Amino acid sequence: MPLVWDETLCVGHKGIDDDHEHLVALYNRFEEAVHRGESGAIIVETVCALAEYSMSHFTREEHAMIRSRYPRYDEHKVLHDGFLEQLTALANVVEQHNEDISEELLGFLKGWIVEHLMSADQDLSDYLCEGKVAVALA
Ligand SMILES: [Fe+2]
Ligand SMILES: [Fe+2]
Repeated sequence: MPLVWDETLCVGHKGIDDDHEHLVALYNRFEEAVHRGESGAIIVETVCALAEYSMSHFTREEHAMIRSRYPRYDEHKVLHDGFLEQLTALANVVEQHNEDISEELLGFLKGWIVEHLMSADQDLSDYLCEGKVAVALA
């Protein structure tokens, strides 16, 4: 089941939501490639696209956290770094050992994204929107 982009995943900060919509689309592209039984090269390509975009999105969030002196920066960054490690390990496993991606693993990644958006990113969005001038992602 692909991730559905709707208001349950929206955090209310335009810049973050726009990024998340694209992140969700890239996750879905990867999941679809797995379900279609695409070759390892295509799977690696889609997982790398997801990892690269995640990295640039996380960097934008982290810059906004620093600029706004977000008090929960450290714990949020640990979550980002952990997810990127998982994606990198996943790409290596497919590339070097040609291993299939299990439903369990897809479920784990999907669960991570939903949980992260609805808790850590919601908290960040609330903080960034709290001030008189909302801090944009840059
Ligand atoms: Fe995010
Ligand atoms: Fe985040």
